[in-house]
Amino acid sequence: MYSSIIQTLAVAIGFAACSVDAVALRRSTKKLTQGTTWTLEAWGYDDTSKGDMIDIDLQTSSKDYVEKLSDGGQYVVCYISAGTAEDWRGDFLDMMNFAARDSRYPGEYWMNITRWQEFKHLIKARIEEAADKGCHGIEPDNTDAYEYGSMAITGESRESLRQYQIDYIRWMAKTAHALGLQIGLKNTVDLIPDLIDNMDFAINESCAKYSENDYCSNYDAFVKQDKAVFGVEYSTKGSCTDAMSEGIMRKYKNMNSNKWVDC
Ligand SMILES: *[C@@H]1O[C@H](CO)[C@@H](O)[C@H](O)[C@H]1NC(C)=O
Ligand SMILES: *[C@@H]1O[C@H](CO)[C@@H](O)[C@H](O)[C@H]1NC(C)=O
Repeated sequence: MYSSIIQTLAVAIGFAACSVDAVALRRSTKKLTQGTTWTLEAWGYDDTSKGDMIDIDLQTSSKDYVEKLSDGGQYVVCYISAGTAEDWRGDFLDMMNFAARDSRYPGEYWMNITRWQEFKHLIKARIEEAADKGCHGIEPDNTDAYEYGSMAITGESRESLRQYQIDYIRWMAKTAHALGLQIGLKNTVDLIPDLIDNMDFAINESCAKYSENDYCSNYDAFVKQDKAVFGVEYSTKGSCTDAMSEGIMRKYKNMNSNKWVDC
C-alpha cells in the first residue's frame, strides 16, 4: 500500500520531470545515516573497498554503470562541480558564459555565483542527468566561492557573496529533492547552521588537519541529526584516532600513495 502510493507519486513526478526514472526515485528513500560505509571513486584515486555508498563522477559514468552499482546494493552519489567550469566537460563553453576567474586548478574557472539564477539551468540539467542515470544523491563540489571572495570573483568579497552562496545551495537542494535525489554538503563549513536542514549528508576534506585539536566539531550538527559525514585526510593514519567518536567515516591517503585506506 505504502509502496504503491510512493510508486504512483514517483511516476507522477517522473512524468512531470519528463525523463526521470521512477525506479530511481523509489530507491532514493534510503537515508545515509551515521555509520554508513563508503567508497570514493570520484576524485581520481583508487578505492577498492565496497562501501554502502559509492561516490562516482556523474558526467563520466554511464547509466549502465550506475545501474550496476545500484543493483549491487550500493547507494550511488554522483559528483558534479557546481561552482566551477571545467574544460574537460561537455557543457564547458556554456558554463564559461557565466564564469569569473581561473581557480586553483588547471582548466578550471570559478563560476560567478552572483549570476547563479542565470546559469542554474545548466546545473539543473546536470541534476536531471543524475536522476536520469539512477543516482541516489549528488555531491556538488566547489560551493565555496564566497570563502575565496575576490580570489574567486574579482570585485566581490566574502560578505557580498555569502547570501548568493546560501540561496544557490538551497536552490540545488530543492531541485535535487524534487527529483527524489539526496544532496551532500561539501565545503562551506561555516554555512552549516544555515544549511543543515537542507542537506542530507556531508563530505569533507582535511577537517582533522584544519580543526583545532583535530576535532571536526563543525560537523556536530550532522551527527546530531544522524546524517552521515564522510571525510578524507591527506595524511597518515594518525588522524584516524578520533574519527569514529567524532561521527566521521574517514579515509586517508598518504601523500605518495594513490590509494584510499579506511580508518
Ligand atoms: C559577476 O556578475 C555580476 C552581475 O551579477 C557582474 O556585474 C560582475 O561584473 C561579474 N563579475 C565578474 C568578475 O565577472
Ligand atoms: C573540511 O573541514 C575543515 C575544517 O572545518 C574546513 O577548513 C574545510 O574547508 C572543509 N573541507 C570541505 C571540502 O568541506
